[in-house]
Amino acid sequence: MEMIATNVRKDAAIVVLTGAGISADSGVATFRGPDGLWEGHRVEDVATPEAFASDPVLVHHFYDQRRARLLEVAPNAAHFALARLEHQWAGSVLVVTQNVDDLHERSGSAALVHMHGALNSGWCLACNARFAWSGAMGEGARCPRCGTVGKVRPDIVWFGEMPYEMERIDEAVRACDLFVSIGTSGAVYPAAGLVQTARYVGAHCVELNLDPSQGSIFFHETRLGRAAEIVPAFVDELLAG
Ligand code: OAD
Repeated sequence: MEMIATNVRKDAAIVVLTGAGISADSGVATFRGPDGLWEGHRVEDVATPEAFASDPVLVHHFYDQRRARLLEVAPNAAHFALARLEHQWAGSVLVVTQNVDDLHERSGSAALVHMHGALNSGWCLACNARFAWSGAMGEGARCPRCGTVGKVRPDIVWFGEMPYEMERIDEAVRACDLFVSIGTSGAVYPAAGLVQTARYVGAHCVELNLDPSQGSIFFHETRLGRAAEIVPAFVDELLAG
């Protein structure tokens, strides 16, 4: 008989992977949904080092718009449920997000990895410093550390670049008992492959998504619906279980 998620030990180690779908209910556009095109561009056309080198104005405009949007949106019930899980669960809970918004931290999640970087962070290519950033960045941004103008880029992991903190993520997934994937299409590696590692080490794997993801067959359980509804229900079950 297949174990169900709510039967995991009360001190189970939990890793939660989140994607754009968890923020969709807050009004943040996903990348591959019907609202996924940005001014006619696919994400693959703007989120690359090559795109930034050939058209920095366009790429800055994309991220400046997304950063400005952060001020208009708020965490939803799914973000808050994960923060509640972290604070009430007896075992460890690590949220690994592919999202570059700040809705997990604003809802109270503290054990959090931004594997694809963050909109509210900047990276100076002249001195290699990373720093908090708010407001528009644009082409003429000045580095707050070294003062160089025009070398600051969004601190976002683009296609072809290495996601952040992969060692910490891999270690946590290898040690987890329950792996939960929320609101991600499973189209982008290495995030999409974490479920296979979790499966390999014997973790119970649950997917919470609007539609089955590309890696759906790797999960023991798939629950379909809007994150703001199914994530709080799932967390309630775990905490009550
Ligand atoms: P996608 O846009 O590829 O997928 C979003 C997923 O969320 C889809 O499977 C939808 O079915 C689901 N979804 C949409 N609305 C939902 C809702 N209200 N509740 C629950 N699920 C919902 O986004 P990601 O998988 O996050 O990388 O994309 C992965 C990476 O591709 C992103 O981190 C980004 C992008 O390129 C970088 O920017 C580096």
